[in-house]
Amino acid sequence: MNGEPTHGPTDETGPETTSSDRTAKGSEPTPPSPTDTTGHRLTAGLTIGSRVVVRYRLAEGAEAAATDFLGELVARNEDFLIVDTRTERVKLIRADVIAAKDVPPPASRPGRAHERVSADDLEKVMAKGWQATDRGGVGDWVLRSSDGFTGRANSVLVVGDPSLPLDKAIDFAEKWYAERDRPPIFQVHGERGFAAEAIPAAAALLERGYAVGGGRDDWERVLVMTGLSAAVPPLTEESVPVTADAELQLEWLMSYAEQRTIVPGATEAVLTGSDGQLFLSVSDPETKRIIALARMAIHPGWAGIFGLWVHPEHRRQGLGTTIVSAVAMVARENNMPAIYVQVSADNADGVAFWEGLGFGVHHEYTYLARPTS
Ligand SMILES: CC(C)(COP(=O)(O)OP(=O)(O)OC[C@H]1O[C@@H](n2cnc3c(N)ncnc32)[C@H](O)[C@@H]1OP(=O)(O)O)[C@@H](O)C(=O)NCCC(=O)NCCS
Repeated sequence: MNGEPTHGPTDETGPETTSSDRTAKGSEPTPPSPTDTTGHRLTAGLTIGSRVVVRYRLAEGAEAAATDFLGELVARNEDFLIVDTRTERVKLIRADVIAAKDVPPPASRPGRAHERVSADDLEKVMAKGWQATDRGGVGDWVLRSSDGFTGRANSVLVVGDPSLPLDKAIDFAEKWYAERDRPPIFQVHGERGFAAEAIPAAAALLERGYAVGGGRDDWERVLVMTGLSAAVPPLTEESVPVTADAELQLEWLMSYAEQRTIVPGATEAVLTGSDGQLFLSVSDPETKRIIALARMAIHPGWAGIFGLWVHPEHRRQGLGTTIVSAVAMVARENNMPAIYVQVSADNADGVAFWEGLGFGVHHEYTYLARPTS
């Protein structure tokens, strides 16, 4: 223990805050401290806004040598971590941190690993699997902008408490997007089949002239489907070889760009912007061209699958399943029992594919935007 100040309840939020910092209304998030190097290796990987567990050395003479703090990491600097536990806010001296790691969100309802997380918590996990290049916050709401590359990375994630009356929170978000010359889009989630009018934020947006889907069919209803990594069929000796690369290779990006509208710069930044990701692909043995691909996002306890695609000429030959089997194998080996995927409800083939792998609908979301014409 390094003398005072010691851990204990505190009102401080510290110099580094994010959108999820409850006290930082409308603030810009700050990237992790550049001083997070050797001396702080134990805490360098922790993500602000995440649930963390910190093993902490206690003062000499204390009943135990160490104790654990479990809670949300709300701020940190070179010397301290600030963690909101269930009962108090504690300020921890980094030099006395014995070990620390991000942990999965808590179980909020009964069920298996992929079912018991709350929709809000899963939404927050998924947002980290597809990080916008420009982020801000209104209370718990996350404002995201990435030069228009994908709805997820260019919309307000409506989760938790915006810490402001709804109309003021929406005004703030609209101004934030206007400053970036981007249209305001809101991602609102609910139970399967929810009516937008029943969600207060969505009802307020509808009153302002926003429309469910904003005129796009694929934005009207997106299913968040989850499954168990252990339930996905394993790779076998007959499986075609899958390449998994932690780096985004040009060939993968070119293949991805063949089937999606990309925004140079923003696309690479979003694809590589999570704490951990893998780029998977299957190549044609003769032409060497990529014929199936996906991106895996890595989280504590969870894996995410983004952009799964099989070349139309190679569908129904098991390649999609093989890619998911490879993801599930990495997930099982790395203590990630649950997998999420987001699929538009109007993609009946995609939904059938995931159902075949044992995935079920956890919740769904819609985008609310002002119709363009
Ligand atoms: C969905 C997709 C990835 C499936 O890839 P695939 O290589 O054809 O899938 P598989 O051959 O491994 O199919 C496994 C099973 O999924 C189900 N399935 C796959 N495609 C299906 C379809 N079009 N309709 C109904 N069921 C389907 C079947 O049960 C299939 O088994 P079967 O062929 O023995 O009947 C592919 O169709 C695709 O790239 N679609 C466009 C992008 C997309 O929708 N991605 C998924 C959303 S995240």
